[in-house]
Amino acid sequence: MTPPPRLFDAGGTAAAAFRSRPAGTPNDNTPGTAVVTGASSGIGWEYATRLAARGWGLVLVARRAERLDVLGKEALKEGAAGVETLVADLGSPEDLSRVVERAAGDDIDLVVSNAGINGYGPFSEVDAGLLTRVLNVNVVALTALTRAAVPGMPARGGGAVINVASLLAFAGDLPPDPLPRRAVYAGSKGYAVTFTRTLAAELAGTPLRVQVVCPGLTATEFHLGAGDTPVSGERRVHDEGGMPAADVVTASLAGLGAGEVVCVPGLTDAEAVARPAEAELGLRAGSGSRMAPRSSHGE
Ligand SMILES: NC(=O)c1ccc[n+]([C@@H]2O[C@H](COP(=O)([O-])OP(=O)(O)OC[C@H]3O[C@@H](n4cnc5c(N)ncnc54)[C@H](OP(=O)(O)O)[C@@H]3O)[C@@H](O)[C@H]2O)c1
Repeated sequence: MTPPPRLFDAGGTAAAAFRSRPAGTPNDNTPGTAVVTGASSGIGWEYATRLAARGWGLVLVARRAERLDVLGKEALKEGAAGVETLVADLGSPEDLSRVVERAAGDDIDLVVSNAGINGYGPFSEVDAGLLTRVLNVNVVALTALTRAAVPGMPARGGGAVINVASLLAFAGDLPPDPLPRRAVYAGSKGYAVTFTRTLAAELAGTPLRVQVVCPGLTATEFHLGAGDTPVSGERRVHDEGGMPAADVVTASLAGLGAGEVVCVPGLTDAEAVARPAEAELGLRAGSGSRMAPRSSHGE
């Protein structure tokens, strides 16, 4: 008998994502239904395709309806249990509330908040409205979708949330060139990292998994667009190169199976993700309730 499709590609290790689920509830070998935002391109398209091949049902979210229709048909051919398309601008509160409602559905086992825009450019020159939309898509929508999905999952025996951030979350105060001018984008991705790490700690011991993925440069359409206008025409990739989106997704799903909360797909030294946490602990431990002596010298 052909084994059922695996829930997550655990990259050769047993997928531990839902091991703690009680018998009779969805487990490693039971595909469920996933909401994937930003499915019309790049990394989101790859998540959808991969999950489809494992027999998942898909709720595909993005603004470009035609792209979602093409993906939906491909996903069904790949083996998706079913496909819904939700055409929505996650920067619009009305559209977001429709997606939030769907993500709260009691059939949803996985939410992939992948949609993102960059708003790169000199801080003083980038349109202020665009910066607000960066926050709405990268921060507000991601948080609202996580909040919608997580409460119902424990009663169903488990579930997972994957939030797509960026390696730029860790670029700190490195100056621009060759890195982009990115204060708001990096801030939004830093939020995704801190939010997801902190939530993972809060949910420890439950059958839920949360993961934040921090890709470096990835070969998608990400650098083709201007502002937040969708790229027109056929699906293609920018000229900047980068890791294939399929590899980002392989790393993410393998990492989720292995319980990796912070997944940096290109990181060879897996221990390096623990070092920021050590530095944070040192900073907190070294900070008391009395003002540091150096501050009084400035008076
Ligand atoms: N490519 C990289 O180098 C790179 C590196 C690190 C992190 N990332 C992150 O990876 C994620 C995916 O990006 P990608 O590289 O795959 O780029 P992409 O090819 O440009 O895809 C972005 C996706 O987000 C969707 N999206 C953008 N604005 C939206 C909105 N207002 N409402 C709904 N959907 C929206 C787009 O769909 P529509 O236009 O059809 O709405 C598209 O499907 C992003 O969060 C990005 O920040 C990318």
